[in-house]
Amino acid sequence: MKTPRILQLPRIGEAALGYISVLEQKDPYLPFEVKRVYWTYFTPNHVERGQHAHLQLEQIIVAVSGIIDFTLIDRAGNRRDYTLDTPDKGLYIPGGYWREIRFSHNAVLLCLASAVYDEKDYIRDFNEFIKSGKP
Ligand code: TYD
Repeated sequence: MKTPRILQLPRIGEAALGYISVLEQKDPYLPFEVKRVYWTYFTPNHVERGQHAHLQLEQIIVAVSGIIDFTLIDRAGNRRDYTLDTPDKGLYIPGGYWREIRFSHNAVLLCLASAVYDEKDYIRDFNEFIKSGKP
């Protein structure tokens, strides 16, 4: 089963010169073909974004700047928190997880996604999301 997990990405370089992190399509820990890249920024830190699930979409999220806290909830209602606090960590999110996202004031969220934007892939009602997991 596909489950969320933190990916440790390569960190090339040294403190005196700075670093490069990289994801390539051939990397075994990139478990889907990237069809879309987007980024979010200037989110005030009292705002919680997310509040939706995706049916099929798979994503890898990187906090390229700042700190981003994710709460992921599965269809059984189990919650798990993840903190992205360094640009060499990625959060893999398969389809079927509700997410709540909080940002530090300087955060930039980079998302690699497995499909182009499709509103039909969203579930934006939490009760509907939980109900979709019941037989
Ligand atoms: P949404 O995915 O709900 O973002 P968040 O969870 O961060 O609040 O998207 C917010 C709006 O942006 C929504 O109207 C759809 C639009 N949008 C696109 O048009 N293309 C995209 O690739 C994304 C991610 C969002």
